[in-house]
Amino acid sequence: MSFLKEIERRRTFGVIAHPDAGKTTLTEKLLLFGGAIQEAGAVKNNKIKKGATSDFMEIERQRGISVATSVLAFNYKDKKINILDTPGHKDFAEDTFRTLTAVDSVIVVIDVAKGVEEQTEKLVEVCRMRNIPMIVFINKLDREGRDAFDLMDEIEQKLHLRVTPLSYPIGMGYDFKGIYNLWEKNINLFSEDSRKNIEDVIRISDLNSNELDKLVGEKAAGRLREELEIINEIYPDFNREDYVQGNLQPVFFGSALNNFGVRELLDGFIEIAPSPRAKESDTRLVQPEEEKFSGFVFKIHANMDPKHRDRLAFVKIVSGTFERNTPYLHVRQGKKLKFSSPNAFFAEKKEIIDTSYAGDIVGLHDTGNFKIGDTLTEGELMNFKGIPSFSPEHFRYINNADPMKSKQLEKGIDQLMDEGVAQLFTLEMNGRKIIGTVGALQYEVIQYRLEHEYGAKCTYENFPAYKACWVKPDDPKNEEFKEFKRIKQKFLAHDKSGQLVFLADSEFSIQMTQSKYPSVKLRFTSEDIK
Ligand code: G4P
Repeated sequence: MSFLKEIERRRTFGVIAHPDAGKTTLTEKLLLFGGAIQEAGAVKNNKIKKGATSDFMEIERQRGISVATSVLAFNYKDKKINILDTPGHKDFAEDTFRTLTAVDSVIVVIDVAKGVEEQTEKLVEVCRMRNIPMIVFINKLDREGRDAFDLMDEIEQKLHLRVTPLSYPIGMGYDFKGIYNLWEKNINLFSEDSRKNIEDVIRISDLNSNELDKLVGEKAAGRLREELEIINEIYPDFNREDYVQGNLQPVFFGSALNNFGVRELLDGFIEIAPSPRAKESDTRLVQPEEEKFSGFVFKIHANMDPKHRDRLAFVKIVSGTFERNTPYLHVRQGKKLKFSSPNAFFAEKKEIIDTSYAGDIVGLHDTGNFKIGDTLTEGELMNFKGIPSFSPEHFRYINNADPMKSKQLEKGIDQLMDEGVAQLFTLEMNGRKIIGTVGALQYEVIQYRLEHEYGAKCTYENFPAYKACWVKPDDPKNEEFKEFKRIKQKFLAHDKSGQLVFLADSEFSIQMTQSKYPSVKLRFTSEDIK
C-alpha cells in the first residue's frame, strides 16, 4: 500500500466520558466489532474503584491496566483504528488533556439518564477550544432515560455544541424498540438476542410502509414519523466539512452493553472521522503527508517493575514514517537518538515494529531522555505546540525524610515530573520544593513510587496556594514588576522549565494583583506565556 494511502486510512481518536457513562464498555464493543478481541470482558476498566484497597494501590492497579490500554489498535474494513485511552477520573484530568493533543477526533459518551455531567463538560470544552471533531454517543438506551430532544438541548446548552442526530431511538428503556439510522436511512430493531448475536439485526428501508407499524406497533411508528419531521425542521443537515472543522457534532444513540447502535456508530465513524490532521509547531504547520518524520511525546509510562527503571514514551507521529534504528533528532536536547525496539500497539498487545505512519502511536523505550511535550524530527528545529500545563489544584511542600537519600529523592522527583504525574515549583525565596497536583490522590502515588522505585522517603506539608499563575510582565525592567516581585516574594516560584509562577492563595488575591499590577500579566496555563 502506498505511503499516502496508509496515512489516509488511519483514524486516531479518544473516547471521553464522565466515569460510568460507558466508555470502557463502548471501547470494548468497538474492539469486538473490529474483530480485535473475541469476548466481552477483555478490556479492563481503568477507573479508580474506592473500596477494599487503599487509594494508592488502586492507582497502581490502574497504572498497570493503563499500560495495556494506552493504545488499542485494530483494523476495521479498510481502516486502521487507534483508540487512545483517556482516564475519566478527575484526578487524572491532566493525563486526559495531554492525550487529547494526540487524537484526530473524539467520541463523547453520555449516559441517557444522567445527561451531561461535570467531567464531560470539562473534556468537551478542551476539545471545543481545539476544534477537535466530536461525535456524541448517547448510551444505555435499554434503561429508562431522558427524552432524546431534551438531551440534545442540554448538550447544545451545556456543552455549547451544535448537534444533529444521525440515528434516533424508537422508544426507550422498557419500551426501547430500536434505532432509526438517519445516515443510512434504515431501521435497526432491538432484540433481546442482540447481546448474544451481534450480526443479527432486522432492517427495513421504507419508513412509510406499514411494515414499520407491524414491527414496532402503530403508536411507536407514528411517534417516530412525527419526531423525524421535527428533526428535519430543527436540526441542521449533516455536513462532513462542518463536523471536521469542529462546527457540527453528529449524535448517535445506542446501548454499548447490548451491542446496540455500536455498529452504526463504528460504520458512521470510519466514514466521516478525519484521517490524521495537520499540527501546528512553533515554526510552521506540519502536514501528515510530508515525507519527513516528525512526532511528539504525549505520555510517558514508567515500568511497573521497579527493577527496570526504563519507561515507555508514547509518540504520536505527526508526519511521514517512523523507521526502526533510524537516528532522529530530539529537538530539546539537540541530540540524535536511535530506537532499536519501537513498539506498535495492536488490540491489547504491543510488538516491535519496523515502520509506523503518521497518525500512529509508537512506544519508545526511554532511560530518561524524554519529557512530555518533546518533539522528534529528522533534523528540523521545531517544537510542536499544544501541551500546556494547567494550574494544579493542590499544593504541598515536599520534604526529604531520609537525609542519606537526597540524591535518590531528587532523581525520583525529577523523573516523576517528566512523566507528568505532578508539577514541581521551587520557591524563589528559599529554594523549597512544592508539588502541585490536580488531585489529592497523586500525593500518595508519589510517596509510594519514590519509596518503591527510588528508595527515597518524603513527607508533605501543606502550602496554602489556590492556583498557579504563570507570570508574564509587559516589561521585566519596569518599577511595577519590581514592586510586584518584592511584595509577593513569598509566593513566587519557578516551574520546572524555569518560568516564573505566582502561587496565589485565593481568587481575591489574583484579582487584587491583576488590578494593582496591570502590566504584570497572569496566565493560567504554562503555554499561554510563550
Ligand atoms: P466508564 O468506563 O465510562 O467508567 O463506564 P463502564 O463502561 O465501566 O460502564 C459503567 C457501568 O455502566 C457498568 O456497570 C456497565 O456495565 C454499565 N453499562 C455500560 N453500557 C451500558 C448500557 O448500554 N446499558 C446498561 N444498562 N448499562 C451499561 P457496572 O455495574 O458499574 O459494572 P459491571 O459490573 O457491569 O462491569
